[in-house]
Amino acid sequence: MDAYTPAPEDRFTFGLWTVGWPASDPFGSATRPPLDPVESVHRLAELGAYGVTFHDDDLLATEPDRDIAIRRFKDALAATGLKVPMATTNLFTHPVFKDGGLTSNDRDIRRHALRKVRRNIDLAAELGASTYVIWGGREGAESDAAKDVHAALSRYKEGLDLLAEYVVSQGYGLRFALEPKPNEPRGDILLPTIGHALAFIGELARPELFGVNPEVGHEQMAGLNFVHGVAQALWQGKLFHIDLNGQHGPKYDQDLIFGHGDLSSAFFLVDLLEHGGYDGPRHFDYKPLRTEDTGDVWVSAAANMRTYLILKEKAKAFRADPEVTEALAASRVPELATPTLSPGETLDDLAEDEFDETAAGHRGYHFTRLNQLALEHLLGTR
Ligand code: GCO
Ligand code: MN
Ligand code: MN
Repeated sequence: MDAYTPAPEDRFTFGLWTVGWPASDPFGSATRPPLDPVESVHRLAELGAYGVTFHDDDLLATEPDRDIAIRRFKDALAATGLKVPMATTNLFTHPVFKDGGLTSNDRDIRRHALRKVRRNIDLAAELGASTYVIWGGREGAESDAAKDVHAALSRYKEGLDLLAEYVVSQGYGLRFALEPKPNEPRGDILLPTIGHALAFIGELARPELFGVNPEVGHEQMAGLNFVHGVAQALWQGKLFHIDLNGQHGPKYDQDLIFGHGDLSSAFFLVDLLEHGGYDGPRHFDYKPLRTEDTGDVWVSAAANMRTYLILKEKAKAFRADPEVTEALAASRVPELATPTLSPGETLDDLAEDEFDETAAGHRGYHFTRLNQLALEHLLGTR
């Protein structure tokens, strides 16, 4: 036990599919045996997690009978006190979903997908979840001829509107979180970034029931700044959930342990989550490396939480450092919070002669010093 030992108050959660991934990839078969979800629940509870999340199919990893699987899962939750704050549907593994679920070209498959989601929404509500994630990994195409994107977005909206209506009619306290991803498994996925998802939500019948579940690696795969994307989602009141993991720039979806990718971005992300008003679970959606054995899986689960807590402490120290406060002021960072016009002023009040353009153009912002201070906090030299 040390300062970085997680406890349920930290609200760390894990997908059952993360620790339970048997590590088959497109080039090789599984390197680990399937994990019983009941064992995952117990191990995660021992490690100090707050909760678990799941796809409908995750519960069937080692027990094919749905009723038995659900009963065993519930017993494990009751025995450990672990919560289920989020659930989701697998609309990507079965061959029937090879052209998508809610946006498949095949109408019967879209109807089948809606039934599958509805059935798992009932279970999510029963288990007390407050967030329902929609990750449309197969909602996309490899060829621009294969998908009428205009129609696909209409069908996406139709499906989500129906599901939202269902949740309201049942009195479930659930909200939906759309998870963007640019590609993989489809060549191109609909709603590829946080920005696309936020814009799409505005077109839904009940936009207040929809937010986003951004994932670190998914924005970084597209070369985007994850911290900026999350900050915008927070600004729009739409950060309903978050998937934490690691990624090394634009390449396949690595789903590394949190902090094992772009560490500097992870530091600023924790700073934002801790000081930017996010109060949801800290959810890890990663894959234990394919090289690892079952024992290493639990080492990797612990590593996610420990890294988060270390970064949380570093971010706190960064914010409390008087030299940082002074450097932020020298860089005029706090000044951006001041409205550009004073109360009662109009554009007509902006007199030309009050401003020395040449002098302002010469003045430096001293961002280098600020970034070095952040780096030194992160590296532990301050
Ligand atoms: C990915 C995705 C998935 C989804 C999860 C929820 O890594 O491609 O993040 O892990 O988050 O399946 O549906
Ligand atoms: Mn991912
Ligand atoms: Mn994810």
